[in-house]
Amino acid sequence: MNGEVILKAEGLGISFGGVHAVKAVDFELRAGELRCLIGPNGAGKTTFFRLLSGQHKPTRGTVTFKGQTLTSLLPYQISRLGIGIKTQVPSLFEDMTVAENLELAVPHGVHARDIPHRVAEVLERIGLADLRDRPCAELAHGQRQWVELGQILASRPAVALLDEPAAGMTHIESVKTVEIIRDITRYSAVIVVEHDMDFIRMIGDRVTVFEQGEVIAEGSFQQVAQDPQVRAAYLGRKETTDA
Ligand SMILES: Nc1ncnc2c1ncn2[C@@H]1O[C@H](COP(=O)(O)OP(=O)(O)O)[C@@H](O)[C@H]1O
Ligand SMILES: [Mg+2]
Repeated sequence: MNGEVILKAEGLGISFGGVHAVKAVDFELRAGELRCLIGPNGAGKTTFFRLLSGQHKPTRGTVTFKGQTLTSLLPYQISRLGIGIKTQVPSLFEDMTVAENLELAVPHGVHARDIPHRVAEVLERIGLADLRDRPCAELAHGQRQWVELGQILASRPAVALLDEPAAGMTHIESVKTVEIIRDITRYSAVIVVEHDMDFIRMIGDRVTVFEQGEVIAEGSFQQVAQDPQVRAAYLGRKETTDA
């Protein structure tokens, strides 16, 4: 169903002092894939993303993107190669409009005359065409998240890392977010971190489960949901994990 392996982690790990946030993770993502990454708070999901995007340097192991080792590259170089990240922390320019924030995300390689079309298309897809000239500071929480997903749509990275894109959203907003993520998969292989099991169920694709810096299970939603180790680690205390 999917293409070749484009992103690969081998024995990837990082320690902060005595804390082994990510231990020795082997992970593969194929072109066209939409992969969910789940696990309790503190499992190492965000740290794993930071290792993939170059914001952290690993204490062990390697990351390979389309056959090229990324370990010695800086975050901006990795971003230019085609790994885009939507962080948990908001990263919009507050005083700039929705359209301007999207325009900034269009890669340098796109011809100037094509930029307005690209921006207009993304505004339609994220459902914010009416708000295109509003400063981002005036947007509601969900709308801001969609602008950030719109930046990924505008930049079309080969791999998109989305850290909790539906955090703090209502159910209806989450449904729209799933649609936007599906749109992103037209151009990008996607890894999406989410806490909310309903969200993971809606996406319905392959799931990787993290716990204490390790991958403890991988498979379909049904497979991982039935895995005793996963139930003990995550589902069993779902109500105690925050969004
Ligand atoms: N910069 C850091 N310095 C020290 N410890 C960190 C740092 N970043 C993350 N950690 C620790 O690493 C572990 C994994 O954190 P994180 O990747 O944020 O988990 P998750 O995203 O799955 O909730 C936690 O124990 C966290 O406290
Ligand atoms: Mg996190």
